[in-house]
Amino acid sequence: MNIPSPLIEERGIIRALDQRLLPQQEVYCEMNRLEDCHRFIADMVVRGAPLIGFTALWGMVVWLKKSHSNCANEYAKASSWLATARPTAVNLAYELNSSKDFLAPYFAEQATNEILVEKLESFTRERMAQLEQDNLTMAKLAETEMNALYGKRSYRVMTLCNTGYLACGPLGTALGVVSYLNSKGKVDHVFACETRPYLQGARLTAYELDKQGISHSLIVEGAISHVLKTQNIDAIFIGADRIAANGDTANKVGSSTLAICARHYGVPFFVVAPTSSFDTSLSSGDLIEIEMRPEEEITHRDGKRVTSIGTSAFNPSFDVTASEHIAGIFCEKGLIRPSMGADNLCNIVKGV
Ligand code: MRU
Repeated sequence: MNIPSPLIEERGIIRALDQRLLPQQEVYCEMNRLEDCHRFIADMVVRGAPLIGFTALWGMVVWLKKSHSNCANEYAKASSWLATARPTAVNLAYELNSSKDFLAPYFAEQATNEILVEKLESFTRERMAQLEQDNLTMAKLAETEMNALYGKRSYRVMTLCNTGYLACGPLGTALGVVSYLNSKGKVDHVFACETRPYLQGARLTAYELDKQGISHSLIVEGAISHVLKTQNIDAIFIGADRIAANGDTANKVGSSTLAICARHYGVPFFVVAPTSSFDTSLSSGDLIEIEMRPEEEITHRDGKRVTSIGTSAFNPSFDVTASEHIAGIFCEKGLIRPSMGADNLCNIVKGV
C-alpha cells in the first residue's frame, strides 16, 4: 500500500500524519504529551472514528510514561478528559473504556508503571491488528452481498467522507470494501462525494483511490440526486461514527441526505463499521450527540472570508441516517439488517 500510515509507533515514539495537509504535504507530528493527543483529535490532525480511538490509546501510553503513575483513578481521570476531544465517534470512548477494563487487574495487583506501559502498548497493537482483520471480514461479507444482488460483475459504487486507511489503518471500512472489491477486479467506477465543508472526500478519499489506481470521479454533494439517477450506481458504502440499538447511524453530515435519495432511486445504502462503532446503550439515533464545528469552516476558504460579514453558519459535522433507509450494516460479526429489530442487532453485536 503506497498510502502513508496515519499513525506510526517506532521505538516508543508516536507520530501522527497531519491529515489537514493532505494531499499536498505528508507531514508527521510527534505526540509527546497527553495534551498533544487531545489536540490531534480535537483539531483533526487525525480523524475517522477508529483512528481516533487508536490515537487515544497511544495517548494513554504516552500519559503513563510521562506520569509514572500506577494509579487506576489517575488513569481514569486522564482518559475521561481525553474522551472529551470529540463527541460523536463512540470509538474514542470505546477504546478508552476497553483499556481501563483491560488494565484493571494490573492496577488491582499494583503492577509497576513499566508493566502497565508494556501491557497497554501490546493491547493497543492487538486492537489495531484486530481491526485490520475485522475490516477484511466486513469486506468479504460485502462482496458476498454484492454477488447475491448483482452476480459476479464489476460494480459502480458511491461513498462519502473518508473511511479508508487514513481513517482506520490498513484497508479501512467502507472504503476498505471498495479496495477489496477492486483487488478482485470488481470495481467499475467510484463516485466520491467531496464532503463539504471539510473535504475529507476530495482531499483524502480521492487521494486513496488515486494511489490505488481505482477509477473514480469526485462529485459535489449537490450532484447526488443527479448521479444516482443517471450513473447506474449499484450500491453506496459509508462508515459510521455511532450506531444506536435500532440501527440509526451517525456518520459524516450529508450521509442521511444520500440515504434518503438512494431510497428514492432504489439504490441499496450500506454501512460498514466494526462493533466498536456501536452504542447499544442508546435506543435511537435521536440520542446521539452531534458535534458542531466552527462556522469558519463554511464562511471562510483558505483563511479568507467568502461570505458577507453579517452571514453566520450552522455547521453540524455529522447527521443521523434513520435505520429504515439502511439496507444493511456490515460488522465483523455479520450482516445486520436494521429491519431485524433492536434485540437482534444487540445480540449480533454482543456475539450471542
Ligand atoms: O470528521 P471526521 O473526518 O472524523 O469524520 C469521519 C467520518 O464521518 C467517517 O465516515 C467515520 O468516522 C467512519 S471512519 C471508518
